[in-house]
Amino acid sequence: MSEADDAPAITRDDDSVTRRSFLGVLLGFGTVVMGAALSVPLIRFALHPLLTKTTEIGWSDIGKTDEFASLTAPAKRLIKVEQRDAWRKIISEKAVYVLPPKDGTMRILSPICPHLGCSIPWNEAKQEFICPCHVAVFAMDGTKISGPAPRSMDALDSKVEDGMLKVRYQYFRQLIPTKEPLS
Ligand code: FES
Repeated sequence: MSEADDAPAITRDDDSVTRRSFLGVLLGFGTVVMGAALSVPLIRFALHPLLTKTTEIGWSDIGKTDEFASLTAPAKRLIKVEQRDAWRKIISEKAVYVLPPKDGTMRILSPICPHLGCSIPWNEAKQEFICPCHVAVFAMDGTKISGPAPRSMDALDSKVEDGMLKVRYQYFRQLIPTKEPLS
């Protein structure tokens, strides 16, 4: 009897089992690859709030510059502020003061008191900003005159585009002597 006669014969069943397990491995590998590919956008979506800035505030229109050219006292205007916070887009209404132009430059003030955050009205009779909460007093240009506020009123970034006065609304830290934006 030859050695060839002793070797186990490969049957049809063994062959089909081998082919089935190869296909199983291929299918498993394909599933893992597809799963990984599909999970990338999901992971990016889940991490989006962590990877982007917490809060982004865009530019808001105040009005045409002609409207403010001949101001003699601060003018209060309500603006629409669009704020992006992770996935959410929030639109809110805020007040700002447009100051009378000085040397052709327009300045915008936040009405939020740098002491404890009350809203500061313009007092037409006294020609001053007077905070109703603890009576901090500010000049027409926002400079602090008296009271507990640690600094002058906060100016907001502004620009003119196609004759439109725009402002970037921001919040600032209270109770400190320097203007520090909150993110
Ligand atoms: S909050 Fe304005 S003076 Fe205190």
